Amino acid sequence: MSKQRSFVVNLMVAVSASALILAACSSATTPNAAVSPTTAPGADAKGDAIPIGIGVAQTSNVALFGQDQVAGAKIAEKWINDNGGINGTPIKLVLQDTAGDENGAINAFQSLINQSKVVAIVGPTLSQQAFAADPIADKAKVPVVAPSNTAKGIPQIGPYIQRVSAPVNAVAPNALKAALKANPDIKKVAVAYAQNDAFSKSETVVFQSVVTSELKLELVTVQTFQTTDTDFTTQATNLLNAKVDLVVISGLAADSGNLVKQLRDLGYKGLIVGGNGLNTPNLFTVCKAQCDGIFVAQAYSADTDNPVNKAFRDAYMADQKKTPSQFAGQTFTGVQVIAEALRAVDKKSKLSGMTLEQIRTELNSTLKSGMKFTTPLGVISFDNQGEILQTQFYVAQVKMDADGKAGKFVFLNN
Ligand code: ALA
Repeated sequence: MSKQRSFVVNLMVAVSASALILAACSSATTPNAAVSPTTAPGADAKGDAIPIGIGVAQTSNVALFGQDQVAGAKIAEKWINDNGGINGTPIKLVLQDTAGDENGAINAFQSLINQSKVVAIVGPTLSQQAFAADPIADKAKVPVVAPSNTAKGIPQIGPYIQRVSAPVNAVAPNALKAALKANPDIKKVAVAYAQNDAFSKSETVVFQSVVTSELKLELVTVQTFQTTDTDFTTQATNLLNAKVDLVVISGLAADSGNLVKQLRDLGYKGLIVGGNGLNTPNLFTVCKAQCDGIFVAQAYSADTDNPVNKAFRDAYMADQKKTPSQFAGQTFTGVQVIAEALRAVDKKSKLSGMTLEQIRTELNSTLKSGMKFTTPLGVISFDNQGEILQTQFYVAQVKMDADGKAGKFVFLNN
């Protein structure tokens, strides 16, 4: 290539990169789905901000998780921008509601990728949705940071997928061990899970294996339900009749909360372990006083002692008037790692001189480079498959006020 030609190419790259930053500046009045993602204006970003997509459930039953996620993401956006943005350029979140199903997640991802021209996506809320929507982002070479997908196999969906939500096998067994510590006489166990949900199916496999193979307890019955169920009379009756010391539930918040409530209302007095779907305080509005005593493993503690968590927790409590949940902490972390990786990319080669495709690709490889991040989850990194490397996990027990109106997760010392 001649010198003159090469200069023209470089100039074109620089122009398209400025277009990206300008793109992010243009207001939400010009949705532009048909235009090339390289140079087309972002639809939702303002100023010269860099657009990051947040595709989580703001509506449906799954919003019991998504509400915490949106709150966590917004705190991260402000915190990043208050601390200089991406070496002087602010970030701007673009929110798209995925609702609770696969189609909602696919539509949200397509809009974020093709219309809003985001550099990366934090989402979706459910593993069930991730298995449907992540392949679309992966094919478009848009990095995804999963904030709450804990089923086995999420990072393996493709090279552009990583997660800050530790998988079921790393987290779930801790709650069983805490329950056994609280009652060493546990012998008989029952398990219930949502059979139409990828995460719940993945988690119950881990729970059942730990119960039988590791803890050598008797698994008396396995009950199934749907995430859309509200009447659990059959399952609760079967669980009660099984005369077990421990019931272990893998489901989402609304279904699991109703099962807990109906099981306790029928007279079950034994211990209950809930999986990752039960670790939001939004559960308390479902099972109310009957939530009391549930053991839930956690990948986040609001007491984590580092300056990032302190800044996050204080801002969240000021904003939301409650302690941040795991869903909030993980989503903050998702935005944080994208922003910190973008800073590293920009230091090596100015983002303003790169195309959108180049930024997405460089961001993805930086996330997978072994870079360490000090986050509300502790110091984390990703392996070269995109799986989170995290060392700190916790178990909490739900403590409800007598009237069932308010409650909290009390963290246990293991
Ligand atoms: N942890 C749940 C999932 O992966 C929310 O679907």
